[in-house]
Amino acid sequence: MLFTPTRDDAADLDLLPLQPVDPAFRADVLRGLSQEEKAIPARWFYDMRGSQLFEAITQVPEYYPTRTETALLHAHAAAVARRTGTDATVVEFGSGSSIKTRILLEAMPRATYVPIDICGEFLNEACDGLRRLFPHLGIVPVEANFMDPVRLPVRRKGQAMLGFFPGSTIGNMTAAAAVDLLRSMRETLGANAHLLIGIDRVKDSGRLVAAYDDAGGVTALFNLNLLQRINRELHGTIPMGEFRHVARWNEGASRVEMHLEARRAIQFEVAGQAFHMSGGETIHTENCHKYRPGEIRLLLAASGWDVLEHWTDEQQDFSLVLARAEADRQTA
Ligand code: AVJ
Repeated sequence: MLFTPTRDDAADLDLLPLQPVDPAFRADVLRGLSQEEKAIPARWFYDMRGSQLFEAITQVPEYYPTRTETALLHAHAAAVARRTGTDATVVEFGSGSSIKTRILLEAMPRATYVPIDICGEFLNEACDGLRRLFPHLGIVPVEANFMDPVRLPVRRKGQAMLGFFPGSTIGNMTAAAAVDLLRSMRETLGANAHLLIGIDRVKDSGRLVAAYDDAGGVTALFNLNLLQRINRELHGTIPMGEFRHVARWNEGASRVEMHLEARRAIQFEVAGQAFHMSGGETIHTENCHKYRPGEIRLLLAASGWDVLEHWTDEQQDFSLVLARAEADRQTA
C-alpha cells in the first residue's frame, strides 16, 4: 500500500525544513565561499537573531554611532519637519527596529510611514511597536532588499516624500554602489523629495575598530551568527568554534572590515558542496566605509542630491544630512 504523508505527518517525521531555503541566500553563500577571497554580503546577517544582535550592538559602550545619531535626530527633527511638512510620507530604507524613526514621527504628526526591511518577522514586530505608540499613524510595511528597485505601495503624486536612511548603512557599500543606490532612491522618491541620511565619519582608527570589536563580544556573536545561519538554513557543517571574529581598519579603502578567520585548516560542507580553508584564511563579511565631510557632499552631489543641512555632533563623529532631489535643470 502506498503511504502518502500529509503535511502533519511530514512535520511529525521532521521531514519539512522549518524554513524554506532562500535561493538567493544559497547562491550568495556558495558563490562567496567559492571565490579566491571568500566573502558573503552583509545583508545576510539580518535573520531574526542577527537583527536582535545588531540591536544589542547599538547599546554597547564602544558603538558610538547610534547614540550620536539619536541625539542629532532629537536636536534637528523639528528642522527636518519644517522643510518637508509634517504630513510627509517617510520611506525608511532598512528600517530594523524603527527606534530612531520614532523621533522623526514625533515631529511629523500627520506622516505616513513606509518601512522597508529584509527581515519580515523583525519588520512586523517593529510595526506592532509603532502602532501602539502612534495609533493614528498610517504604516505600509514592505519586506524587501532595499538594494533592489522598490516600487512604493503608496501614491506619491503631490505627496511630500522623505527618504530616511540612518545608521550609516550607506557605509556598507563601495562609493560606486552608494551612488547607484542614492540615485535609485531619487527615482523611487520622485521629484522634490527630501532625503535624511546618517553617515559615519573618518576618525581615530582605534575608536573605529573598537566600535566593531567591543570588549563584551556582542559584535563577535553578530558576525559568528552568520555561520550558524548558514548551518541551519543551508545544511552546513561549518565548525563555528574554529572561527574568530576580526575587525580591522583598511586605511586605503577608508573602511572598517569585518572578517571571520579560520583558526586552523578546516573542511566543511554547505548545501552539499565541500569547502576548505587554511589556517588564518578569512571570510570577509562586512565593509563599513567612513567619510570626510567634503566626501559626503561629493557623494550626494554625484547622486543628484543637493545638501540643505549638514549637522554633526560636538566631537564631529557622525553626520546627519538633509538633502533635496536636485531639480532637473540644464547645467552649463
Ligand atoms: C547597520 C551597517 C550601519 O556598519 O556600523 C555594526 C552594522 N556591523 N557592527 C555598521 C554593524 C557591526 C552597521 N550598519
